[in-house]
Amino acid sequence: MNRLEESIAAWPVAGLPATLADRTRRVYDRMAAVYPVSTLLFHSRAHRCALEASGMSDGMRVLEVATGSGEMFRRLVRANRGGATIGVDLSPNMAARTQRTARRKYPSARTHCQAVDARHMPFRSESFDAIFCCYLLELLSTEDISTTLGEFRRILKDRGRLALVLIGQNTALFNAVYRVAGKVAPAFWGRQVEHRVPALVKTVPFQIVDDRTVRQTFYPSRVLVMRK
Ligand SMILES: C[S@@+](CC[C@H](N)C(=O)[O-])C[C@H]1O[C@@H](n2cnc3c(N)ncnc32)[C@H](O)[C@@H]1O
Repeated sequence: MNRLEESIAAWPVAGLPATLADRTRRVYDRMAAVYPVSTLLFHSRAHRCALEASGMSDGMRVLEVATGSGEMFRRLVRANRGGATIGVDLSPNMAARTQRTARRKYPSARTHCQAVDARHMPFRSESFDAIFCCYLLELLSTEDISTTLGEFRRILKDRGRLALVLIGQNTALFNAVYRVAGKVAPAFWGRQVEHRVPALVKTVPFQIVDDRTVRQTFYPSRVLVMRK
């Protein structure tokens, strides 16, 4: 594709950004103020489980990818007051909210949050002891999941840990509802990838060291912890 074709392909179509990632950024930007409710109702139990299973300890350099409105990020900052906790999210509004609320609650902690696309991380190789990433992979294409997992491996220190939280696929009714939601608003819901991800992480390669399922009300999650 030449430069002109590339710029035409990136133009908004009928008022919508041309790529799914652009739409995802836009929709999550708009949701930043109300998103904490959804985290509280559906994600907080899995967040707690991921932190427990990760083996993270105070004093580490920790990265959270796709912070959303910052509930897990604050949990990480609280557990890592002697270390540095960095957060990224594609949506500038989500990243700004996460930064603001973490700094207000933990003013003396070393924290930083910025708008970054997880597929291209602006960090040096082997910079982090632990990475957390909850409910992001559903929003990426299979190719982008592999690229992003490759970035996680690159920026993790040797024997560093990656904790992934995925939407569970072990409930037929939930899966049916999710399929419809994903068709109606793919940029917000994406699609379930829980069954595909364990095979993908092994090709990066990562070694899975912990694997748990969690349910909060009707919402299933799977927590995978792996080592570089
Ligand atoms: C379903 S929300 C999950 C938020 C949070 N991790 C949680 O557990 O509640 C997905 C988040 O991923 C972010 N996101 C989507 N695509 C991304 C990308 N390519 N890079 C970084 N963040 C992304 C969205 O902006 C949104 O905040």
